[in-house]
Amino acid sequence: MPMNLLTAWQGAKQRLQRAGLPGPVIDARLLVEAAAEASRADIVTDPYRELTPEQEARLDDYLGRREHREPVSQILGRKGFWKIMLQVNANVLTPRPDTESVLDVVLKDFPEQAAWNVLDLGVGSGAILLAILAERPAARGLGVDVSEDAIAVARDNAAALGLAGRAALLRGDWSAGLADAEFDLVVSNPPYIATEVIATLEPEVAQYEPRIALDGGPDGLDAYRILAPEILRVLKPGGRFAVEIGYDQKDAVEALFKISGAVDVRTTRDLADRDRVVAGSKNPLETKA
Ligand SMILES: C[S@@+](CC[C@H](N)C(=O)[O-])C[C@H]1O[C@@H](n2cnc3c(N)ncnc32)[C@H](O)[C@@H]1O
Repeated sequence: MPMNLLTAWQGAKQRLQRAGLPGPVIDARLLVEAAAEASRADIVTDPYRELTPEQEARLDDYLGRREHREPVSQILGRKGFWKIMLQVNANVLTPRPDTESVLDVVLKDFPEQAAWNVLDLGVGSGAILLAILAERPAARGLGVDVSEDAIAVARDNAAALGLAGRAALLRGDWSAGLADAEFDLVVSNPPYIATEVIATLEPEVAQYEPRIALDGGPDGLDAYRILAPEILRVLKPGGRFAVEIGYDQKDAVEALFKISGAVDVRTTRDLADRDRVVAGSKNPLETKA
């Protein structure tokens, strides 16, 4: 007997529950919707719509991959972030709700029509840079990533969102090669997990996300040691920065930026009330970090 949307969803839920996966109800719904090319409303308004044999086979493939702990975002090839939809794959970190805290911080001080030049170091899928450019129509930006494969994803996302004309994307090692005092705003969500912690994370992260997007060295702070002085170097006087941090890195990252000459350094907490974003400015009277 062919499955319909309702029996497919119930069966998918049971299969994911049996596999002991976290969040089986939502994952099952997302996978059924994608496999059956159905909208969220269809499962409620048209529950007896039958799946074609191809759709049943696709759902079986998706569920098998999920049972092996592949993240739903990678199975579907997309993830919503802030107000935009991004294509993702195994070459980029799946954008996290935590990272939306960076947007909350920077947009507050970013005038609606300001023609700011924005730099995103470690741009990955393009999440932070493209969400900013989508909100600020006069801004332009540069996203840098050491991974050519990540840059390819960010380029596709910029094009799909109609932002390619304002977003340059370059392969590079952080800000090496960029001129002094070029940017009004620098953002970054660098790798910040201590190397030995990575193996203890859930398989969706440890096995499926790019290690270069996670590994922050022995204490998780390697990237910030490079980025703090470099961000101050490439910012214009008076320019602002915001970097995502791990929940226990506030003091160390604030200190790195203060030693590098940053002013107004402060940390903002995320929706789960954990320290998440260190932000500050370059002294308006300085021309060099
Ligand atoms: C935690 S991910 C963040 C991705 C994206 N900005 C986001 O928030 O979803 C860190 C990114 O930094 C990049 N990265 C790591 N080392 C780098 C380096 N030396 N230079 C530039 N990018 C680097 C990784 O490839 C990865 O895309």
